[in-house]
Amino acid sequence: MKRYAHITGWGKYAPEKILTNDDLSQMVDTSDEWIRTRTGIKTRHIVGEGETTATMSVRAAQAALDVANVTPDQIELIIVATSSPDYLTPSTACLVQNSLGAMRAGAFDLAAGCSGFVYGLGVASALIESGVYDTVLVIGAETVSNFVNWSDRETCVLFGDGAGAVVLQAKEVPGGVLSFVLGADGSGAELLYVPAGGTRQPTSAETVAQGLHFLRMNGRAVFRFAVNIMPRASRQVCEQAGLSLDDIELFIPHQANDRILQASARALNIPTERMFSNLEHYGNTSAASVPIALCEAIEAGLIKRGDHLVMVGFGAGLTWAAAAIQWSMPWPVPGRPWWRKLLRWLYYRWASLRSWTLRVLRGFDSTLRQSEEESQPPKQEKEDAMK
Ligand code: ACO
Repeated sequence: MKRYAHITGWGKYAPEKILTNDDLSQMVDTSDEWIRTRTGIKTRHIVGEGETTATMSVRAAQAALDVANVTPDQIELIIVATSSPDYLTPSTACLVQNSLGAMRAGAFDLAAGCSGFVYGLGVASALIESGVYDTVLVIGAETVSNFVNWSDRETCVLFGDGAGAVVLQAKEVPGGVLSFVLGADGSGAELLYVPAGGTRQPTSAETVAQGLHFLRMNGRAVFRFAVNIMPRASRQVCEQAGLSLDDIELFIPHQANDRILQASARALNIPTERMFSNLEHYGNTSAASVPIALCEAIEAGLIKRGDHLVMVGFGAGLTWAAAAIQWSMPWPVPGRPWWRKLLRWLYYRWASLRSWTLRVLRGFDSTLRQSEEESQPPKQEKEDAMK
């Protein structure tokens, strides 16, 4: 029996703190007028105290699990698409796995810039269709604000923080992810990159003094790449799914710049209303932008059961990715009884208690071993005593 990967749950999280164009004009030489007309952005969300890529991922994931009516122990794999992880190692996906109490799940991060979430969707759907997994959680989450140079007006006005998540589940009903396209062109690596902090240029006082730990971008070159690749990848993914562009009720593109969305709509010969945009409230949230846009399009009632969607992203790498999807979920989602919400709440409390207990036990264990080792006579003394 053929298996299909359906999106059965979705959720988003954006930090409370909002940064307006006027706020930015107090920080760098820019204006609300320039930002609005050149990018379409009005506000963006920025992380507050204690918020990270992992904590935002968990909030988005909990919302998605609730919609899908899936418990964390049913998840078999967690993919977190991000270029702004909590640590270089371990992966943010492992932190999410721990916070959710997803004890049966494997977990890894996926770094494909702003295309990361759609990349993750492709990987997850292939693993589901091939029968390896039944339930996969895919998250796109970013704290780009921590990598942005807040005195560089060419980049700091563009980005925002946030997270979006979907639950993908195996079904025998045709639909879900119909096709996907993944692409890369590493010759454009330096068009959008963070020069230092990796193995090529490890962090040092010098790299920090030179600001090499900040995001650098050749905006014009990325713009040209985007307006060429978004229509191309969209056409290709439709062709692979046996659909025409007219069959697509809604395009959900990576939200980088309104002018890129309009140019892509023109190139595809579709009205701009079919190119979903929520950029003005979020800015570019990199890998989080497509899942956040998906959630907002659903909540706005723009996606009905049976509709065909194309999600399409482009970004650092350079990378691009597109997925054609046949939507199979109702909206609004039927309400959950109070006791189910309570059970979920208790599960997450239990997961954090379990994590805390394991840490404490590991601490005891290593202290115990250390004091055991210290109380042993040194090896040489032992050998002498045996002679
Ligand atoms: N405020 C005021 N003026 C500005 C600002 C600003 N914030 N930023 C640049 N300018 C100035 C420039 O200095 C330049 O001045 P000059 O003519 O005196 O030299 C002028 O505005 C025009 O600059 P351009 O770079 O030509 O502006 P452009 O119209 O190309 O817009 C932008 C710049 C918004 C960055 C655009 O190129 C863009 O959106 N590129 C794509 C970026 C993108 O999508 N990045 C994300 C990729 S996804 C990922 O993986 C993260």
